[in-house]
Amino acid sequence: MNDAELRVVECFFLSVLFERIDLMQRVKIYGAGSIGNHLAHAARHLGWDVVMCDIDPAALNRTKVDIYPKRYGRWDDGIQLTSYSDVPTGGFDLIIIGTPPNTHMELAMKALKEKPGAMLIEKPLCTPNLAGASEVYELSKSLNIPVFTGYNHVVGHAARFLSELCQPIIATETTTLDVEFREHWGGIFNAHPWLKGPNDTYLGFSDLGGGATGEHSHAINFWQFLSYLIGAGRIVEVQATMNFVYSNEVDYDDLSVMTFKTETGLLGRCVQDVITRPARKFARIQLPDDFIEWHCNAEPELDKVIHSVECQKIQIENFEKTRPIDFICELEHIVSVVNRGNVTSPISLKRGLETMLVVAAAYKSAKSRNTVKIDYTKGFNQDAIW
Ligand SMILES: NC(=O)c1ccc[n+]([C@@H]2O[C@H](COP(=O)([O-])OP(=O)(O)OC[C@H]3O[C@@H](n4cnc5c(N)ncnc54)[C@H](O)[C@@H]3O)[C@@H](O)[C@H]2O)c1
Repeated sequence: MNDAELRVVECFFLSVLFERIDLMQRVKIYGAGSIGNHLAHAARHLGWDVVMCDIDPAALNRTKVDIYPKRYGRWDDGIQLTSYSDVPTGGFDLIIIGTPPNTHMELAMKALKEKPGAMLIEKPLCTPNLAGASEVYELSKSLNIPVFTGYNHVVGHAARFLSELCQPIIATETTTLDVEFREHWGGIFNAHPWLKGPNDTYLGFSDLGGGATGEHSHAINFWQFLSYLIGAGRIVEVQATMNFVYSNEVDYDDLSVMTFKTETGLLGRCVQDVITRPARKFARIQLPDDFIEWHCNAEPELDKVIHSVECQKIQIENFEKTRPIDFICELEHIVSVVNRGNVTSPISLKRGLETMLVVAAAYKSAKSRNTVKIDYTKGFNQDAIW
């Protein structure tokens, strides 16, 4: 891969001011849980019709009387709630899969066959055994349906600024990359008061896509995003150490410390955990003289980018945001990419699957206590990690 190919041209932040938002009209959401509600609200904000389904009648009821009105002030009759078995098929501009990770690939295969205009599958895309990943990727390619993943941090306003700031950087000048998503999962359980604890959901099982490495894989994805931006390419070596919590009720990793090496030889670190309070979501690009840092929620409803200029002057840029804005930005980005066609998106299915290869490699490394390599020519399956 040459330098030009490594530094993929990212057109994803083109202005959506003049975007034909109305080109998307009908959206179907699988999963009336926490993310289903966030994305239903974002879609309604953009004026789209929303059908949301769930296999659990209690989740549908909770959406209408509890989650949605508490978060957004009132229930919205523009959202149609149905059981999984009654949900309409065909004619959707966007299908969103917001269910637990171990259900994503099966639902995605089914949804692709409906031939929607586009699809968004939540993170982590699949389980660490990568079951179904290659099949979904190949089918989406053969049907030419743009598919996105829920790594929304890389399409936020602060990330947009980062991408501009990183344009002049050359991979060989970058000395290291560091990303952390360290956040106690108490916040997740506060948002899901109906759950008794990690054992009541996929979160308590790494094999189902839970644990720190799967649940907070935003950090791996952000590391990859920065690596692409500076032209350092894909991660080809992973070394991981994890702390596993195991009992007859749960089996997950609560701390995942990873080092990565890329195609150009850049070495860096990534840490994810579900134990740190207060949370710290942070990224840093170290250059020979200068640095660039991204601080997510540095203050309530504020992201910051802090960078030095010519070794001395420190500049701080603030980006106001709210939780609803995160998801509105994400859907606006999807519209922008779909409208333009053939544009590389940092939340493309391919990028999300590259994150899954790193997740799978990290577990393999932590369990074998060896460095694990990734061979991207082998596709999105276990053969690619060795
Ligand atoms: N991008 C983000 O910032 C973000 C935030 C929250 C959650 N997520 C991701 O979204 C996914 C769901 O998380 P959540 O917190 O919303 O979980 P949740 O438990 O609140 O909701 C999931 C819902 O899916 C339903 N469901 C399960 N199988 C289904 C099926 N086959 N068809 C229809 N509904 C089905 C469940 O009954 C449940 O109501 C996870 O992958 C999670 O990591 C992403």
